[in-house]
Amino acid sequence: MLRTHTCGELNISHCGQKVTLSGWIQRSRDLGGMTFIDLRDRYGITQLVFNMETNSELCLEARKLGREFVLQVKGQVEERSNKNSKISTGEIEIIVHKIKILNSSKTPPFTIEDKTDGGDELRMKYRYLDLRRNEVREKMELRHNLSILIRNYMNDLKFMEIETPYLIKSTPEGARDFVVPSRMNPNEFYALPQSPQTFKQLLMISGYDRYFQIVRCFRDEDLRADRQPEFTQIDCEMSFVEQEDILNTFEGLIKHLFMKVKGLSLSDFPRMSYADAMKYYGSDKPDTRFGMKFVELNNIVKGNGFSVFDNSELVVGICAENCSEYTRKQIDELTEFVKRPQVGATGLVYIKYNLDGSLKSSVDKFFTPEKLEEIAKEFGAKPGDLILILAGREEKTQTALNVLRLEMGNRLGLRDSDNYSPLWVVDFPLLEWDEDTNRYYAKHHPFTAPKPEDYSMLFTNAKDVRANAYDLVINGVEIGGGSIRIFDRDMQKDMFKVLGFSDEEAQKQFGFLLEAFEYGAPPHGGIAFGFDRLCSVFGGVESIRDFIAFPKNNNGRDIMIDSPSQIKQEQLDELQIKLVIKD
Ligand code: AMO
Repeated sequence: MLRTHTCGELNISHCGQKVTLSGWIQRSRDLGGMTFIDLRDRYGITQLVFNMETNSELCLEARKLGREFVLQVKGQVEERSNKNSKISTGEIEIIVHKIKILNSSKTPPFTIEDKTDGGDELRMKYRYLDLRRNEVREKMELRHNLSILIRNYMNDLKFMEIETPYLIKSTPEGARDFVVPSRMNPNEFYALPQSPQTFKQLLMISGYDRYFQIVRCFRDEDLRADRQPEFTQIDCEMSFVEQEDILNTFEGLIKHLFMKVKGLSLSDFPRMSYADAMKYYGSDKPDTRFGMKFVELNNIVKGNGFSVFDNSELVVGICAENCSEYTRKQIDELTEFVKRPQVGATGLVYIKYNLDGSLKSSVDKFFTPEKLEEIAKEFGAKPGDLILILAGREEKTQTALNVLRLEMGNRLGLRDSDNYSPLWVVDFPLLEWDEDTNRYYAKHHPFTAPKPEDYSMLFTNAKDVRANAYDLVINGVEIGGGSIRIFDRDMQKDMFKVLGFSDEEAQKQFGFLLEAFEYGAPPHGGIAFGFDRLCSVFGGVESIRDFIAFPKNNNGRDIMIDSPSQIKQEQLDELQIKLVIKD
């Protein structure tokens, strides 16, 4: 070993010991007669001391060393006169007797310290250097710890981790696939799995009644802070279970993680139907850390001569407590905010419940003070509150008000990342109608079972069929989703039919599964958690990128290795692929 100790482990009890340390130079300081070097490794920082009086040769040598040089030093542990209570080794320092340069280093393109001067792009390009920083390393450690806790917990419950293939078959449902050409089968392509969904179901048919896998998934979709093209799922499946069993099992896992990592004992997760989530929060992943629930106003506001409300499918609002003093400028800002194309509202109506008890609104012309009072009462508003109202097509208005609600939550400091509010959203619709392609899509995926009591409506009233599907939401983030599966060939065929697959197409795409259903498929169901998202919730930040060692940027590029990139003509020839570049 090139070291006797790490840079994070020496303390006052080691004083007098001769030690050997190895690590990187974080920084050095020359104070005339003395030179100090902070030596860093994964475990911490230890101060090295060189004294001009006692060993001038070594001290001069030390002064020549640059940041990020890799050193091995031998020396003696001494108590420091100037202690640093911020670090674990802050009571000691090493009086160095010998230095060996294990490697030199170019000056790094940004400072490798907690407060760095490197911008996002630069740190992505030199991700291996960014990973040396405490903040980033701590996120990697959190991820590692969570993965160990999960594996142990699942193992204790008799779940088996089984790997499923990465080179699979492209399917038309879900997000876009990443495809991989096959040299041995010209003109044919594998697809990288968006999830191991069909394989885990086949494993149930094989009798592995409790499966899990911490597994990479690939989806070619537009990227956001909580989406990467390759991400990791904690993928799980169980046989001989009902929805309740799955929710309980995995609520147990999440509670266990919170207890072990945060020391928090969470109470039972509330359940909310999809219908209520949309009605009261305008989102299937409501952030329930704060109230500000939607209040629908159709019954009260229609027929008062205000055409915007009269002509709207939905008039709905929220009440922001203690915001009645908002200035004209602040209200204008909110109005601009909801009118941005990403939010898409046509305007914003406000009612101020002034501290003196009077009501002032942007629609005073149309509503009498009594009517405004009636509206305020509907919200349970009190003097000092501000009511914000949107109107328009139902779904669009709910979605826009959800964005406004979250914005108000941010402005009012109600979205504290140390506060955790998990819930199950249940009873999702089985299908969703797509205007553009004029057909139904599976809301979750085509293998999800309808609620038995709704099955008979599949071909008569498909949009109202609810599924045995559920999502775990924490702080407004969809952390996981799953369902009870169809395990009957005829029901699965019905599902494909309602999704617009001909028998032939269904057979071609999913014949293997339909056939497997004929060999004794047990009732089964499961869930998959977004592992990167789970890490980011535990880490208290929105972006999942920070929890991935080598992530992609928002254009799906790895700017460190410069990928995606062109491939050589020989490779294309071998694959029998001819490129046609479109403008
Ligand atoms: P679903 O598509 O809901 O379900 O995915 C499960 C969870 O994976 C996470 N997730 C992502 N995380 C980061 N980047 C992405 N691009 C991304 N896409 C999804 C989310 C999501 O809740 N096979 C089913 C699960 C099942 O039915 O058992 C599935 O994949 O946290």
